Amino acid sequence: MDRWKGRVALVTGASVGIGAAIVKSLVQHGMKVVGCARNLEQIEKLAAECVSSGFSGTLFPYKCDLTVEDEVLSMFSWIKVQHQGIDVCINNAGLALPEPLLSGKTSGWKNMMYVNVFGLSLCSREAYQSMKERYIDDGHIININSTSGHRVVNNADVHFYAASKYAVTALTEGLRQELRKARTHIRATCISPGFVETEFAYRLYSQNPEKAEAAYKSIKCLQADDIANAVVYVLSAPPHVQIGDILMRPVEQLT
Ligand SMILES: NC(=O)c1ccc[n+]([C@@H]2O[C@H](COP(=O)([O-])OP(=O)(O)OC[C@H]3O[C@@H](n4cnc5c(N)ncnc54)[C@H](OP(=O)(O)O)[C@@H]3O)[C@@H](O)[C@H]2O)c1
Repeated sequence: MDRWKGRVALVTGASVGIGAAIVKSLVQHGMKVVGCARNLEQIEKLAAECVSSGFSGTLFPYKCDLTVEDEVLSMFSWIKVQHQGIDVCINNAGLALPEPLLSGKTSGWKNMMYVNVFGLSLCSREAYQSMKERYIDDGHIININSTSGHRVVNNADVHFYAASKYAVTALTEGLRQELRKARTHIRATCISPGFVETEFAYRLYSQNPEKAEAAYKSIKCLQADDIANAVVYVLSAPPHVQIGDILMRPVEQLT
């Protein structure tokens, strides 16, 4: 990770869960990290934690709603002014809402598409343009996908979510192909976790927190740090190694 010291990473969905764990790990490794989400206060707390832990990097909290294109573009303009640009983009923000295909609300579908697919695509495009204009040839775009990006489980609550994560699988491979065509060594990778104990299921089942609790208690889940470790592994790979996808399940997870 030495080559990333002092360089700039953007982590979306930095306020809690997997994003917060990734932020801490990258700051610990000496990176300048712009962490964005809607809950700025939470990211500010994380920044204070990074300082009190004596980590060698810095977290710069930024408030951004990824469903609003202007906010995303303003964030990239701010990054350009404050930090010249970014070298690593971690598209982590994401959500599932229980909106089945036969009866779900359009607003819920839109929310999932705007964050999981459009937000991720906007950030990837802007990150690449930022790297290109500064002649950065060793950047990395990492998408936090899901096992739901690879198989459809028999649960109507997550069918639309799965569709949005299948899109992430296609987008990551599409990015890899376009990067090859552009003759750059910038890499695109996705990490596809199974159950991770975060706020994710509580947000999915906000009307029924017992269901979320039961899901997380049913097996020994992955922890957010397990995913942060995978990010560090991806960023540490030698420059000629293109990791496409890391699928990681809890040992006890069946599907
Ligand atoms: N937990 C799991 O079991 C699991 C499994 C596989 C994949 N994943 C994926 O892992 C990623 C992180 O999930 P997590 O488990 O850490 O979930 P989480 O604890 O619910 O965190 C989700 C993050 O996304 C951010 N976010 C949501 N909507 C946003 C918006 N409109 N604009 C900006 N940020 C937004 C949230 O920040 P604010 O609310 O502050 O905006 C939060 O930081 C997601 O892509 C998820 O699909 C999770």
